[in-house]
Amino acid sequence: MKYNFDEIISREGTNCIKYDALQRVFGSEEVLPMWVADMDFRTPDFVIDALRKRLEHEILGYTFRGNEFNEAIVSWMKKRHGWDVDPAWLCFSPGVVPALNMLVMALTEPTDRIIVQPPVYFPFFGAIRENGREIIENPLVLKNGRLCMDLDDLKQKAVGARMLLLCHPHNPGGSVWTRHELETMAQICIDNDVLIVSDEIHSDLIFDGHRHIPLASLSPEVAALTVTCNAPSKTFNLAGLATSYLIIPNKDLLDKYNHMINDQLHAGMGNLFGAIALQAAYAHGEGWLEQLLEYVHQNVKFVGEYLQKNIPQITMIEPESTYMIWLDCRSLGFSTGELKDFFINNAHLGLNEGAMFGTGGEGFMRLNVACPHQMVQWAMEQLRAAVDGLRE
Ligand SMILES: Cc1ncc(COP(=O)(O)O)c(C=O)c1O
Repeated sequence: MKYNFDEIISREGTNCIKYDALQRVFGSEEVLPMWVADMDFRTPDFVIDALRKRLEHEILGYTFRGNEFNEAIVSWMKKRHGWDVDPAWLCFSPGVVPALNMLVMALTEPTDRIIVQPPVYFPFFGAIRENGREIIENPLVLKNGRLCMDLDDLKQKAVGARMLLLCHPHNPGGSVWTRHELETMAQICIDNDVLIVSDEIHSDLIFDGHRHIPLASLSPEVAALTVTCNAPSKTFNLAGLATSYLIIPNKDLLDKYNHMINDQLHAGMGNLFGAIALQAAYAHGEGWLEQLLEYVHQNVKFVGEYLQKNIPQITMIEPESTYMIWLDCRSLGFSTGELKDFFINNAHLGLNEGAMFGTGGEGFMRLNVACPHQMVQWAMEQLRAAVDGLRE
């Protein structure tokens, strides 16, 4: 079956954050929204059909996730990532961000030091700060147009740290961490007794020529100190269903997490539609995902070529994964506030400001291209007109 990703579907009036919160977020309704990380594509038919089928039974009471839930995850991990996951390692979370927060609370002590690699998805900072732990930064470095880990710096920072929050693949910037990077990083963590929380929520969205290596699949030693967070939400556009899961091979860490979510917070029930959607997506989603990746990659290439030809003042960090493009706008010479204002009021575009992602994010903007190609074209034309306007 050939899917149509070109169709522009109005999302307005659905309380969707991307379109219906523009005034609150950007102070203007007049922006083309290309920010928060969900997609403007229809959630796939096989997911919608499974949800409809469940609705034929008109009682929506308390439910638990059956074996099918775990089996769907085990089978997806094997076929997409070649990783043998034991169903006993699996547990639920309503979201990856809630999981990051619960893991910080369950596995570290107040004042413990937790490493992040900025610029990085901003809730990583909140998970540490809001829970009274100390943020230690191991900033990424931009080398030959790719955000890379600074492993020498990590060696220093790991001393005395308790945990590392890894974004794998990385948001923003789209780096798919290589085996060498992962092995070196993991060895530093083993040597210093640092736990790793590996957020692999974007791991299905990998472009040709790159391969995602689940961190915990490296070796039993690495698995023993790794908690993997994942979800079908980015891959299949299900974020509103609040379903994610954790893979924790270390029984002691698993028990601590389960105690937190089930006994301390009573947040382990989840919603029934999330489970059904995950099962349908993982059972039937490979063909759809291949087409999605191809389509999104074309959007990415289009942006790269358009910028080079028409807006050379802005360059793109070529993403190896994710549907986010990290735009280097530093040569425009704007302060953080000016850059934000320029995108909203001159280009009429709603993007995420790079500064939100912490150290190294200043002067960058994050563009979401998980949308029909026509919209990416409009965005580029609007940006070109705005940059051209600076000369006048
Ligand atoms: C790296 C990363 N982790 C987590 C999330 C959100 O996860 P959830 O909606 O499951 O809390 C996002 C969404 O943009 C993300 O980019």
